[in-house]
Amino acid sequence: MTRLTRADLDALPSYVPGRNVADLARELGIAEAIKLASNEVPFGPLPGVAEAAAEAIRSAHRYPDMGVVALRDRLAERYGVPPERIVTGCGSVALAEHLAKATCLPGDEIVYSWRSFEAYPIIAAGGGATSVRVPNTAGHGHDLTAMAASVTERTRLILVCNPNNPTGTSVRRAEIDRFLAEVPSDVLVVLDEAYREFVTDDGVPDGLETYGDRPNVVVLRTMSKAWGLAGLRVGFLVAQPEVATAIRKVVTPFSTSLVAQAAALAALDQEGEVRRRCALVIAERDRVTEALRKLSVEVPTSQANFVWLPLGDRAAAFGAACESRGVIVRAFQPDGVRVTIGTPEENDAFLAAAEAALA
Ligand SMILES: Cc1ncc(COP(=O)(O)O)c(C=O)c1O
Repeated sequence: MTRLTRADLDALPSYVPGRNVADLARELGIAEAIKLASNEVPFGPLPGVAEAAAEAIRSAHRYPDMGVVALRDRLAERYGVPPERIVTGCGSVALAEHLAKATCLPGDEIVYSWRSFEAYPIIAAGGGATSVRVPNTAGHGHDLTAMAASVTERTRLILVCNPNNPTGTSVRRAEIDRFLAEVPSDVLVVLDEAYREFVTDDGVPDGLETYGDRPNVVVLRTMSKAWGLAGLRVGFLVAQPEVATAIRKVVTPFSTSLVAQAAALAALDQEGEVRRRCALVIAERDRVTEALRKLSVEVPTSQANFVWLPLGDRAAAFGAACESRGVIVRAFQPDGVRVTIGTPEENDAFLAAAEAALA
């Protein structure tokens, strides 16, 4: 058969979306299933967001502002950086793709820890770059020393996921300081801080505040998690102006939609409520961690809105057992299972399912 697409993509795993709750509920014959598989926050949109989105949709026949001026200005004010250093995108995952496109030519290398965010291998391969995976430490975190040592003359980009998805672990200031001192100045380091708002450990630096002014550092943030806009797709990055300009050249035009821009502006008015919701998630995260540890499961200390059960090759069976009890979690066979923190009731349902699954 004539080949119409790139042969190298055959070997690439597809991104696995979380399972559909309605499908599972139908399959099990129950009223509602619970989805704790996509690291979403369970409280619904922030106040004012639905109204702002509804108002914006009246202009849906118009293109959005391609320069995303109002939102970039607002983010600039909030994060204390000039707007020319900010690039928005269709979720931070799209920005990670744009970063690969803006830095790598075929055969160039992207270094990341593994296991980490499952989109990284797809982003690297999609851009024709070579993935260099550095195994996680025994404690399930990034080995920044090994990551720095893996840099070659082909390395263009290093992705540091802090806190790390899916293990919840985080790297601390002294480690990052040492790492950044070792990485050559012509290699771009991306601090992917999708879960920054859930960090409670003072030793884990805010990448933007601590390293944002370094020429070769880019900080990636999302409004999908703490800000509750996963379905509208808004991410942003902060880079030096020249880097931001280069990335803007490869961004898909108009990819921060009209509705997304309006909703993000409304969400940014609700920072107090965001903090309140994050505090609820954090309290539940600590409760779920304790409860799992009482079941003799190893649970690395999480700084995100999910916990990691390093169950090894028992991961898929554990995931299936939870699903059979109406709780969808994310199994990464053969490494472990990631469970998003939901409402207290959802977390209780998960803990009951986990107890039965582990028995
Ligand atoms: C580490 C990390 N980075 C980026 C993203 C992408 O988020 P979004 O594209 O929704 O902004 C995710 C989402 O799960 C993530 O876990």
